[in-house]
Amino acid sequence: MSTPQPALTPLTELPAWEALDEHASEIEDVHLREFFEEDEDRASRFSLEAEGLFLDYSKNRITSQTMDLLFQLAEQSYLQDKIDAMFRGDHINLTENRSVLHVALRMPKTASLVVDGVDVVAEVHAVLDKMAAFADRVRSGEWTGFTGKRVRNIVNIGIGGSDLGPVMAYEALRHCSQRDLNLRFVSNVDGTDFAEATRDLDASETLFIVASKTFTTLETMTNANSAREWTLAQLGDEKAIASHFVALSTNAKEVSKFGIDTANMFGFWDWVGGRYSMDSAIGLSTMIAIGPDNFRAMLAGFHAMDEHFRTAPFERNMPVIMGLLTIWYNNIFGSQTVAILPYDQYLKRFPAYLQQLTMESNGKSITVTGEQVDYETGAIYWGEPGTNGQHSFYQLIHQGTKLIPCDFIGFMKSLNPKGDHHDILIANLFAQAEALAFGKFSEEVAAQGVPEELVAHKTFEGNRPSNMLLAEKLTPEILGKLIALYEHNVFTQGAIWQIDSFDQWGVELGKVLAMRIVPELKGNSELGHDGSTNALIERYRSQKA
Ligand code: F6P
Repeated sequence: MSTPQPALTPLTELPAWEALDEHASEIEDVHLREFFEEDEDRASRFSLEAEGLFLDYSKNRITSQTMDLLFQLAEQSYLQDKIDAMFRGDHINLTENRSVLHVALRMPKTASLVVDGVDVVAEVHAVLDKMAAFADRVRSGEWTGFTGKRVRNIVNIGIGGSDLGPVMAYEALRHCSQRDLNLRFVSNVDGTDFAEATRDLDASETLFIVASKTFTTLETMTNANSAREWTLAQLGDEKAIASHFVALSTNAKEVSKFGIDTANMFGFWDWVGGRYSMDSAIGLSTMIAIGPDNFRAMLAGFHAMDEHFRTAPFERNMPVIMGLLTIWYNNIFGSQTVAILPYDQYLKRFPAYLQQLTMESNGKSITVTGEQVDYETGAIYWGEPGTNGQHSFYQLIHQGTKLIPCDFIGFMKSLNPKGDHHDILIANLFAQAEALAFGKFSEEVAAQGVPEELVAHKTFEGNRPSNMLLAEKLTPEILGKLIALYEHNVFTQGAIWQIDSFDQWGVELGKVLAMRIVPELKGNSELGHDGSTNALIERYRSQKA
């Protein structure tokens, strides 16, 4: 089924786009201090609650008119039609002619969604039930290895979406993980990753989860083959593979070619993009760590945010608002990046996870109709947990020459209450957003008796925008909501930019060239690359021995 596309007016010719440009020139010099002085209700006007998440976006350089124009831009971009098309299962991934249905991965069992003649929700729940049964067996010790010992170590081998989501979720939900299970993740083809992850493990107690949508990814297959050799070296019998390897994939043929019984394979579908797959079978390591009930709670969180995104009017729609604000800074203010700053140690891998989600999705320069864009697209996402970032790169955000919109994320309750720690953490979270927005002007610095020659150095101009996202506690459900919030934020941005957020052709060329270079590194064949690449290969050939 192909998607009926509303005829698209080029983005820069939309009336709202032109109006936003003009409006920006009227307010770009207004300071956030003035906005707050003029409007006592600004904080409540520009904040909203949705599904247990609270967003204060009042410290953005916006007025009500800005938001009205951004909502008009969303309407003129047919955003609601595009949302509905995704939820219906239309083939909105145009360049691969596929549905984009990660939202079906978290629909309740009672739901039904028939796409291309198949009820995908029934299929999703069949796999979830199979995963739950397996996870319970591993957690209880009923699943044993080749020598009869219970599994103590679980090593997920995957890369990109088959790694970043599972690692992030494991770290985020460690507090509800079964602590006598040791989870490790191997992604890099650098042999160091595998060696360090397995050096202290006993193969008889180790289960490898080979996670790969295609089951052809070079890095993952190289690591999986090393895992197989490592296992055989310790256990000495091919039959051991059956109880120490399971696969998460859409490619049953390649799985069985590798030697994994397809009874030990957990499947998913081509309509699940790699970076949108952590709540599919790819989440098996997460489910083993936190248990099926917590996993289902996470899925319920995803689903609640999906429903909010699908049904809330744009004015009260959290992912839409966040997506539009990113457009505002990226396209109108020329901001290149967005900083993700979680004030929770458990979210330490969240910025890395978001990098793939946002940049593999929206790092495109061709529109869905095949035109070269003449505006900026995907922002660069980066970040680190607070307060560590404060002692590292925040200097540049506060006083550098670049405008960097920040997403602060915090929780009202600590999962590890300890003395004053949480109050200090949250005080820092709120203080950073306050300092960025309101700064400290030179006259205020001078009034404190600072020597004249240092006043400029100690001045903070402020007017630096941020969002503040808060929730009560980092539970599995809240994590699901948070991830879905960003997935739909990315969707909103891609819809406005008129790009296909669900393909990733940009990763292909490097893969093809690497496959050509691998044999060249091993032999003495004539090289036909450019001068630089030839010289690098020669250098490696002569020094590797
Ligand atoms: O980096 C390209 C990519 O295709 C990602 O989109 C994907 O998450 C990753 O490689 C891993 O792919 P696979 O799960 O097929 O091994």
